[in-house]
Amino acid sequence: MIVAIDGPAGSGKSTVAKIVAERLGFRYINTGAMYRAVAWKANNAGSLLKDELAIAQVAEELNIEFIPNPDGQKIIVDGVDVGSQLKSEEVGNGAATVASQPQVRKILTDLQRKMGQDGKIVMEGRDIGTQVFPNADKKFFFQADPEERGRRRYQELSTKGESVDLHEIIDQIRKRDLEDMNRSVAPLVQAEDALLVDTTHLGIEEAVVRVIELIGPEDAK
Ligand code: C5P
Repeated sequence: MIVAIDGPAGSGKSTVAKIVAERLGFRYINTGAMYRAVAWKANNAGSLLKDELAIAQVAEELNIEFIPNPDGQKIIVDGVDVGSQLKSEEVGNGAATVASQPQVRKILTDLQRKMGQDGKIVMEGRDIGTQVFPNADKKFFFQADPEERGRRRYQELSTKGESVDLHEIIDQIRKRDLEDMNRSVAPLVQAEDALLVDTTHLGIEEAVVRVIELIGPEDAK
């Protein structure tokens, strides 16, 4: 069983995917973290994010592990726990830049298929139901109003002590949505057979319950 969850930034897909995976006893893979890790590594190495050859090399050499822990998940890149460093808006915007590059997408898509090949997985991102696992058993597309998604990001970042401006965050989210929806390779789009979950007025637990009901606990074997 492969569960694919796609949707824009702040739609709640990561939070919900993580809990759904835990309840079903499945692995959870956050593919956004993989694009973020490439941008983060490239930044650290002083590579230009637009330098497609250099970025493809970084993607090729990416060594990333997802380790479940009581807080959800640890993300280890080259042996170092980098979870919180990957979460900044700067790294998110860098991820959107490298994610528009066909070679990078091919390398990460192959890696994601390998990670999911044994099933019992909840994989979340922008193109899981359309490109990575077009034959996934269950597909969901998460959506929420941009203002609500901005508020969630704002809360997440200010809880971590980052000084952020709500309007700026909403603008950035809209900009990143447009970039993700309009790129020529693997644009963000709802798969025809994906079920739409609008989380604008839905709490986390309600969204989790809805997804598990739609999967059908009996099927989740
Ligand atoms: O989900 P998250 O916000 O961490 O993703 C960061 C960026 O990585 C997205 O804005 C998108 O450009 C890219 N991404 C992608 N395909 C995926 C996951 C993420 O293009 N499957």
